[in-house]
Amino acid sequence: MMFRYPDNTKMVRELTAIAREELEHFELVNQWLERRNIPLAPLSPPPYGAGLKAQVRPQEPERFLDSLLVAGLIEARSHERLGLLATHCPEPELAKFYRGLMASEARHFGTYWILADTYFPRQIVMQRLDELAIAESELLSTLHP
Ligand SMILES: [Fe+2]
Repeated sequence: MMFRYPDNTKMVRELTAIAREELEHFELVNQWLERRNIPLAPLSPPPYGAGLKAQVRPQEPERFLDSLLVAGLIEARSHERLGLLATHCPEPELAKFYRGLMASEARHFGTYWILADTYFPRQIVMQRLDELAIAESELLSTLHP
């Protein structure tokens, strides 16, 4: 998105910060794995992301709005997943780590939401977010019946 919409300065700045933070998290996760002698393993992309991206409408400006909202939904779901991990993790230190990541993912969702609200009228954002959330819910029930 940073390269597709380089004129949207606010978005480029915000997404640069998210990209930096995600890479820092990758580094931290990798350190946890190294401490436990767990090698990084190939991970095929989950059909969840591809299914959501298929909801992005091809024409502009709808493509831009949908891309922001789909990215936001992915962050929101990561926030939920990390919250569950933190709640059920038996190791306090690891649970604390998950909680930290959870808070970041919530912030990231907020950033995408604010960006959508910056570039599009709120009513259009709300309506499209509702539609995408329904599509996401249907997608998740097919993937995890
Ligand atoms: Fe994130």
